[in-house]
Parts: sequence; C-alpha cells; structure tokens
Amino acid sequence: MKKILITGAAGFLGSHLCDRFIAEGFDVVGMDNLITGDLNNISHLFPLSNFEFHHHDVTKFVHVSGKLDYILHFASPASPIDYLKIPIKTLKVGSLGTLNLLGLAKEKGARILVASTSEVYGDPLVHPQNEEYFGNVNPIGPRGVYDEAKRFMESITMAYHRHHGLDTRIVRIFNTYGSRMRLNDGRVVPAFMGQALRGEDLTVFGDGSQSRSFCYIDDQVEGIYRLLFSDYTDPVNIGNPHETTIKEFAEEIIALTGTKQKVIYKPLPQDDPTQRQPDITKAKEILGWEPKVHRAEGLKIVYDYFKSLSPEELQKKEHRDFSTK
Ligand SMILES: NC(=O)c1ccc[n+]([C@@H]2O[C@H](COP(=O)([O-])OP(=O)(O)OC[C@H]3O[C@@H](n4cnc5c(N)ncnc54)[C@H](O)[C@@H]3O)[C@@H](O)[C@H]2O)c1
Repeated sequence: MKKILITGAAGFLGSHLCDRFIAEGFDVVGMDNLITGDLNNISHLFPLSNFEFHHHDVTKFVHVSGKLDYILHFASPASPIDYLKIPIKTLKVGSLGTLNLLGLAKEKGARILVASTSEVYGDPLVHPQNEEYFGNVNPIGPRGVYDEAKRFMESITMAYHRHHGLDTRIVRIFNTYGSRMRLNDGRVVPAFMGQALRGEDLTVFGDGSQSRSFCYIDDQVEGIYRLLFSDYTDPVNIGNPHETTIKEFAEEIIALTGTKQKVIYKPLPQDDPTQRQPDITKAKEILGWEPKVHRAEGLKIVYDYFKSLSPEELQKKEHRDFSTK
C-alpha cells in the first residue's frame, strides 16, 4: 500500500483529501496542530486501520516512521480572519513548516505537493490570472503574512526541486467551498450562509463590485489528485473560472436560502483583491481537468449540510478561540 502524509488534515481541504486518499486505498497519516482545524472533521476515519493521526505542529521537526511515498502540505491558516489573528504562526507554517516537510520528503524520497493560493497574485493587474503572472502583492500590508508566506513556500519548493532534484508539485488553489467550513472565518460562502441561517443581514464589504469565483470541494480535490499524479512540476491553478460579483452572489444566497434579510455594506478591508478568476488552460491541457459542479448545485449541497447540523454543532462552527493555543 502507498503511504501518504497529509498536513492540515483536520481542516476543511485536508479532511476531504484524507477521505479521498482513504477511498483510493492509501495508508493515510493525518497531521495537524488543530489551531484552526477540528477533529470532528476526521473522527469518522479514526476506526480505520489505514488511518492514523499525529497531533503535531509542523513548524517543529516532523518525523514519520517507516516509508513515505507522498506528502500533501496543506497546513496553514487560510481565511483572512484566521491569518490576521495569528500572523506570525501563518508566516512560520508557510516558511519553517514547508522547510521541514521538504526535508522529510528528501529523506524519504517522497513526492511532495504544496498548497499555494491565488493570493500569490495579490490584487492582480492581469485578468484572468494565469500561472505566468508574477502578481501584485503588498509585502508589508496585513495580508502580506499569508501572501508572502505562500510565495516563499513556492520559492523554496522550486529551490529543492532544482537544487536537490526533489519531486515536487505546486497547486495554486482559488476560493473553494464545501461542507466542514466554519461559519465565521471570513470566507464568503460560509459567512453568507451563516448570516442567512441566523436571520441576519448579509454583509458585503465595499460596493460589492469585486469579483470572485468559487470552486466546489469535490472538483478541487479531483484537480489536486490529478496534479499529484501528473509529471508537471510548475504551479497549476485549480479553481472555477465562473466569475460573479459579490453583490450578485449575495443575491444568489438570498434566493437559495429564502431569507427575508437584505444586503448591508461595510468598508472594504485593506488590500482586498478587486478581481479573482483563474485561467485554467494549463489544468485543462495537462491534467484534463475542469470543474464539473455548477455553483447553484454546489451551494445547495453546502446549505443543506449546514441546515442538517444540530444547534450545538452549528454553535461549534461559530466559535474559535485562538488565545489558548
Ligand atoms: N479553502 C480555500 O479556498 C483555499 C484557497 C487557497 C489555498 N488554500 C490552502 O489550502 C490549505 C488548507 O486550507 P483550508 O481552507 O482547509 O483551511 P483550514 O483552516 O480549514 O485548514 C488548515 C489546517 O491546517 C492546520 N494547521 C495550521 N497551522 C499548522 C501547523 N503549524 N502545524 C500543523 N497543522 C497546522 C489547522 O489546524 C487546520 O486544520 C491551506 O494551506 C490554504 O492556504 C485554501
């Protein structure tokens, strides 16, 4: 059996990746320090003999016994609310954490795929964003802690690839949504759904003319899976190119949820990108991948998921206290 280490395993994307690799018959080692993740996302895997969980901070030395064939490095705070609350930890997991995992990959002769982000393009001057675009990032702005950590992650990954011949892959993930997200972590889809479920007005930052594109989790996991098993070592965008403005999107959520509330407007946060749309030509050509799930279909699945949670479960999806971590 092939063995894979997945960091950030208790998080949104990591937990869905654990499910996929278990379903494909891998031995899966999940690793997480639970700073933004939740063990409930993977507790269904605990009884399985081909799953083990390591409660560990990847910015410290990482050890996994025995052979290791693949590493997926997904540990990192990912939402603006999270990384603005824990900026230094965000920089450390992208830098020291990545360094530790590259070292482990080298020691084990494993292939490593690292989770980068569309945020490496910053507030883009090229639209849609293709992989050749270098980005427009403010290194000293509040969001720089995330964007620059990921840019460093890409840089050191390519250095290990070129200098040590390490077998590496880089995925640039665009906004992805699905079950297991937290309701108040600042990401648009769960934020709007949480507000609709609580009967609150939907908050749009700025005038709502900024654009986003949202990829359903199953499509994202499929893209990552195909990239891992491809021969391609430069970064690849994985995301849904179907773009919408935030204002239109808020109205879609109002129609889907049937909420009687309205849209309210608040000032735009600093360095919030005005547009975001992946050019997925490479993913199509190299991986034969493109998203399959329409936004209306994916949003309904996720809204039904949140509605199916008990009040206690929903409450848990609201609260996050980093002060004790
Ligand atoms: N969800 C998206 O739309 C999106 C978009 C672009 C990139 N990404 C990337 O995908 C990855 C996962 O994002 P997510 O949306 O699942 O976020 P998430 O917060 O749900 O999951 C991240 C996980 O990493 C863990 N973690 C953080 N620091 C750690 C450390 N030092 N050691 C061990 N574990 C640590 C957290 O506890 C959490 O379980 C991140 O690297 C993120 O940058 C996600």
